[in-house]
Amino acid sequence: MKIGVPKEIKNNENRVGMTPAGVAELIKHGHTVAVQHTAGENSGFADEQYVKVGATILPTIEDVYAYADMIVKVKEPIEPEYPLIRKGQLVFTYFHFASDHELTLAMIKSGGVCLAYETVQLPNRALPLLIPMSEVAGRMATLNGAYYLQKTKGGKGKLIGGVPGVKPAKVLVLGGGIVGEAAARTAAGMGADVTITDISLPRLRQLDIETPANIHTLYSNEHNIRQQLHDVDIIIGSVLIPGAKTPFLITRDMLKEMEPGTVLVDVAIDQGGCFETSHPTTHSEPTYMVDGILHYAVANIPGAVPNTSTTALTNATLRYAVALADKGWQQACKDDQALFLGLNVVEGKVTYKAVADAWNLPYEPITL
Ligand SMILES: NC(=O)c1ccc[n+]([C@@H]2O[C@H](COP(=O)([O-])OP(=O)(O)OC[C@H]3O[C@@H](n4cnc5c(N)ncnc54)[C@H](O)[C@@H]3O)[C@@H](O)[C@H]2O)c1
Repeated sequence: MKIGVPKEIKNNENRVGMTPAGVAELIKHGHTVAVQHTAGENSGFADEQYVKVGATILPTIEDVYAYADMIVKVKEPIEPEYPLIRKGQLVFTYFHFASDHELTLAMIKSGGVCLAYETVQLPNRALPLLIPMSEVAGRMATLNGAYYLQKTKGGKGKLIGGVPGVKPAKVLVLGGGIVGEAAARTAAGMGADVTITDISLPRLRQLDIETPANIHTLYSNEHNIRQQLHDVDIIIGSVLIPGAKTPFLITRDMLKEMEPGTVLVDVAIDQGGCFETSHPTTHSEPTYMVDGILHYAVANIPGAVPNTSTTALTNATLRYAVALADKGWQQACKDDQALFLGLNVVEGKVTYKAVADAWNLPYEPITL
């Protein structure tokens, strides 16, 4: 199969759909890969690295789309890319259709086959192509929390791990999923006193058994959260209720119970946020203050570390990309229910119920 890796054109997106290592694997399977000139540059992968493993470099995005049977990328296509997608062309990327009406209509019109990373789902309900970005975001949440705790950055002026004779900072993690566990482990590794909450008791039991002794578990309810506020230093919001808006676990009135300079990191901001006072921020202006409490709510945290994020993403997507290239999308989706669940829009039809429901479009389930 002919595979194309275009350069991402969405603002501030520095990741790329595939690393040279991933491209090498596809070529080993007998496929040909065209990478757009400088596509990997911002992730630390030069054109020469792709050429070395056998890829062809094409000068423009138009060339890559025209060449490929399957496009592998990172972000959803944006307007200039819509007309480049042709009938029957497979596009394997994050789409997030339910939050973008224009994109949904454009992809229906294109006649392309849109296989969305975010809905590829394993039988245990895990989302294997979202997990790597959550693993990155969780670690970064703690690093940023620790950074903004500095007095010069607006924080309380505490060192997250303390020093001998001085207590470490207190970190409260709301939501003990992939992001929450990564954040808690990173904070614990830096010596912080960590509390992690969840509404799932089995999950709390698992965290209690498997995580270091300086991570304590706490059942998530308003009473328990309020009790933590008077001396907490960093709060990380990492709650997710699939398909629903994130609840506000920290309301505006709760800010008064915290010490000035407390740092709130709202990782769940991409789903609406779990602090009432959160609004999305960017890497160029990541923080703002409300009532003396510092808020960090960057909506694409992994974008700050594109080398790690691209590599982690390719590690997760590659086996699916290889299956799609080896067998074609129909057979690959027939053989693997996880991949089948990734089909969102197929040749003009919305084949994923939540997307059809979101935009009041006909749902046309696909049978292979
Ligand atoms: N900002 C970013 O760049 C970025 C990057 C990756 C992920 N995210 C977001 O981070 C959030 C978490 O992602 P994840 O992969 O860890 O999800 P996850 O499903 O693995 O974990 C979510 C956890 O929240 C728990 N939860 C639900 N309601 C709760 C409540 N009221 N109190 C406490 N816990 C509760 C769930 O039981 C679950 O354990 C999502 O909103 C995701 O979109 C953001």
